[in-house]
Order: sequence, then structure tokens, then C-alpha cells
Amino acid sequence: MNKTIEEALNKQINAELYSSYLYYSMSAYFHSLNLEGMATWMKVQTAEEMTHAAMFNDYLLERGGKVKMTAIDAPETEWASPLAAFEAIYEHEQKVTGLINHLVDLAIKESDHATNAFLQWFVSEQVEEEASADGIVQKLKLVAGHGSGLFMIDQQLATRTYTAPPNAPSIP
Ligand code: FEO
Repeated sequence: MNKTIEEALNKQINAELYSSYLYYSMSAYFHSLNLEGMATWMKVQTAEEMTHAAMFNDYLLERGGKVKMTAIDAPETEWASPLAAFEAIYEHEQKVTGLINHLVDLAIKESDHATNAFLQWFVSEQVEEEASADGIVQKLKLVAGHGSGLFMIDQQLATRTYTAPPNAPSIP
């Protein structure tokens, strides 16, 4: 497979694993605040990001590329407030959208139509990821850190469950 694309997809595996690591760290942070619903939401997000990494991994292998795992940066472990944590997620997902868009640009430049087609699922997924983080940011701003509002949001986020996308490989 095209070496530039191979290298870029490997970098994306690292970025998805970092996202998974970041959300796992946030899950522990919310657990320490007794906000178990938010901790659950983060654990589901951790699993989703692991699935994204697996999708890039399997795609590379399917195309005869070489998978190279590299060191994952350590995520933050503390945030100033639940709102600050969700704002950090929103910013993080905006950065990931930029990475995906850059990959699409590269696939087009290299005339790699298969990779472009593979990436389109991630283009749509990023719209959802940004909207979902921003939605929670807006709700947290509305309650402005007040206990009962925070408790209600926490209860709502506790209902999130993990569903693998239909095109996702199983990790084990
Ligand atoms: Fe894998 Fe949150 O994007």
C-alpha cells in the first residue's frame, strides 16, 4: 500500500488509542467526584475509541499495510470542573475532526479511493462526536454547577450504553 497513507493511518491508530486513554482517565476523574453517570459515559466513549483504533488497524491489515504501534501520550488526570472536562472533550473532538479531514485530503491527493471511502464513516462519526460533547457542554452551562442540575445530567448520562458500529471489527 502507499507508504504515505500507511504512515498516516498508523498515526491515526495512535490518535484513537490516545482518545481512548483520555476518556478512561476522565472516567476515573468523574468516579472520584461520585458522578457515576458521567464516569459511565466516559467508559462507553473509551470503548468507542478503542473500536475506532481497531477499525484503522484492520483496514491497514486488509490493504496489506504494516501496523506499527507507538507510544501513547499520558492524558491529563484532573480537570477544574465537570464543565471544564466536557469542554476539553469538545476541543479534543474538534482536533480529531481536523485529523480525519487531513487524512481524507491525503487520500484524495494520493488517488487512494478505497481509503477515502473507508474514511467517510469517520467523517460522519465526527459530526456526531462533536455534537454530543457540545450538547453536554451547553447543558452543564445551563445548570452552572448547581447540585440538583448536575445530578440530573449525571443520571441522564448514566443511561448511555455501548453499541459497536455495524462495520466495526470485534476487538477480541
Ligand atoms: Fe475516534 Fe472521538 O473520535
